[in-house]
Order: sequence, then structure tokens, then C-alpha cells
Amino acid sequence: MSAIDDIEQLKTQIREKIGHAPTLEILDQERVELLGRKGALTALLRGLGELAPEERAIVGKLANEARAAAETLLEERKSELTARALDDQLAAGRLDVSLPGRMMPLGAQHLISRIRDEIIDVFMGIGYTVAEGPEAELDFYNFTALNHSMQHPARSASDTFYLIDQSGDEHAGPEPSEVLLRTHTSPVQVRTMQREKPPIYVLAPGKVYRRDTADPTHLPQFTQMEGLVVDRDITFADLRGTLDYFVKEMFGKDRKTRFRPHFFPFTEPSAEVDVSCGICDGSGCRFCGNTGWIEILGCGMVDPEVFMHSGVDTETYTGFAFGMGVDRIAALRYDIPDIRILVDGDMRFLRQF
Ligand code: DAH
Repeated sequence: MSAIDDIEQLKTQIREKIGHAPTLEILDQERVELLGRKGALTALLRGLGELAPEERAIVGKLANEARAAAETLLEERKSELTARALDDQLAAGRLDVSLPGRMMPLGAQHLISRIRDEIIDVFMGIGYTVAEGPEAELDFYNFTALNHSMQHPARSASDTFYLIDQSGDEHAGPEPSEVLLRTHTSPVQVRTMQREKPPIYVLAPGKVYRRDTADPTHLPQFTQMEGLVVDRDITFADLRGTLDYFVKEMFGKDRKTRFRPHFFPFTEPSAEVDVSCGICDGSGCRFCGNTGWIEILGCGMVDPEVFMHSGVDTETYTGFAFGMGVDRIAALRYDIPDIRILVDGDMRFLRQF
């Protein structure tokens, strides 16, 4: 077969293989096979030296024409295939605007957070601001500054979660520098008074921890709301008026409050506050243990000892404080008989609120 026939054959191959390559990858393979360094055209050109000079000129010219034609065809096919790939891609990703939308499940605030915010709203309406303190607290703020003696039972390692101290020792016994999980939000009182000058009207919401076994009325971690007022001429009458107002805002105008004398180390005098039972309206039922009353918070006049630890001038100022369990308030508002259900994460229960 002559060299000219070889070129004709190569041209046919180029037309078929490059002109009809089905994909960009195959097109590139064909390019290498036909036009590459080890391809058919190169082999043909290498053989030129063995030809007679006049034939060499003709075959060389034809070979160059074949290469130019092949390169043009290659570019054409390449842009064809690229355009087709783009079309396919667009067709595959086409947006069907008539498809129904996909509903995202809507989250909601947890009941405890909602009640916490409701309580804050009531007090913000009468001029209080919100203060915060750490959940990992120093013994000094949680106990000592709040006038707990070193022997106070709440300090025992069976009531309070102590964090392992820096030396790596497990709790060895109460010390004012020790770190623990706060057992109430009352330490925020001391931190606030150290930081700010009176007049002080603050609320301190937050999580607290106690070594309790969970039961219908206790959780080892729960939420409290602390209140603190420090100003000139604050009396127990201000405390009563404030909490009376709060109870009516929170539970309804027809609810009554009752102050019972009590003891807290950080207030003097101290009281526990009951609200009239919403189920029996005070006549006595199972919900209120037949007393007609339900306990909702502790309160009192700030003990001068606490003022002293907090740097407040006891000649000029007096104050009151109160503390309540937010989970308990939530349970009362919605007649929830077992507060563990608040933290179980059972969506069938939580979705009701
Ligand atoms: N800290 C108390 C507790 O956890 C609640 C409390 C009682 C807070 C009386 C107060 C208060 O501020 O005056 O049981």
C-alpha cells in the first residue's frame, strides 16, 4: 500500500473517530491515538525518509493538510460536546416551580425558658434589669458571703457538687476558695453588689445544681430566679407589695399570697411565700395537700452580714431578696404533677406549650 493510501485511510479514521467521538474523554483518547507523539500520523511522518524525494514532498504536504483538518475537526467536536454536556447538566438540574415546598420542622422555646422570660417581663415592667453569674462558683459566693457557717449542712459533699480542684484532689472539705456548682442563684446577689452601687434592682435567672435524686418535685439540675433590691428606705412592706404584684401578674388577679416566717442564713427576717391554690381556690384539695396554699418562693430582708461581704454601706442602705424555682412555677402554671417531665425531652409533652 502506498503512503498516499495510508494518508487517505488516516483521514477516514480521523473523520469517523474524532468527528463522532461520543464524549470528551473518548475524544481525547482518539486525539492521542491519531495525532499524538506515538500516534498514527507521527508514525507516517517518520516513514517519509524512506520515500523518493518527489513522492516525499507530495506525501509531506498531504500529511500536513490532514493534520490541519484533524485539528479543526477536533476543536469543533470539542465545543459540540462541551455544549451538550452543559445542556445535559441544565436539564438535570431544572427547577420545577410547581413542586410543593418541603416543610422544615419549626422549633419552639422550651417551657422553662418561656416561664423564665415571662417572670423577667413582669419585673422589667417595674424597672428591674437582668444580672448573671457563673454556674461553676466559688464557695465564697455560694456560701461564705451568704452567711452560711462552715458547718452548714448544705456545704456537705453529699448535698453539693464540688469540682475537683487544681491539685487534682477530690473534695477534701469546705474552703472559701473551692469551686463548686452553685446550689442557688443567690451568689449573684453578692457579685452584683460588689460590682454596682445602689440603687440596685436586679433579677438573676440561671441553672443551679444539687445532689438530689430526681423525683416529682426535685431535679439535680434546675432553674432559679433570684431577685435583689438595694436602695434607701427599703422595708419589708416593699417586699410584700412587690411579690404580691408579681403573683397576680403571673397567676391571675384573684390569687392571694401568704407570707410565712422562715429562716435563711442570708436574710433577716425571712419568709416563705405561698400562693392560694388555683385548683381548689384555697378550700383545700389533693394538689395543695389540703392546705389551700402552694409554696412558691423564699425571701427576706438582706442580712447586714451579706452587705458587709458585698461592700454595701449598711448605714445608708437596706434591701430585700427573693428566690424561686422556675421549674416549679412552670409546673404550677400548667398543673404539671411531676417536674421530671420538663426535662425528659418528650416532644409529645413539650409540643403542647
Ligand atoms: N436561695 C434560696 C434557695 O435556693 C432561695 C432564696 C430564699 C433566695 C430567700 C433568696 C431569699 O434571695 O431571700 O432555696
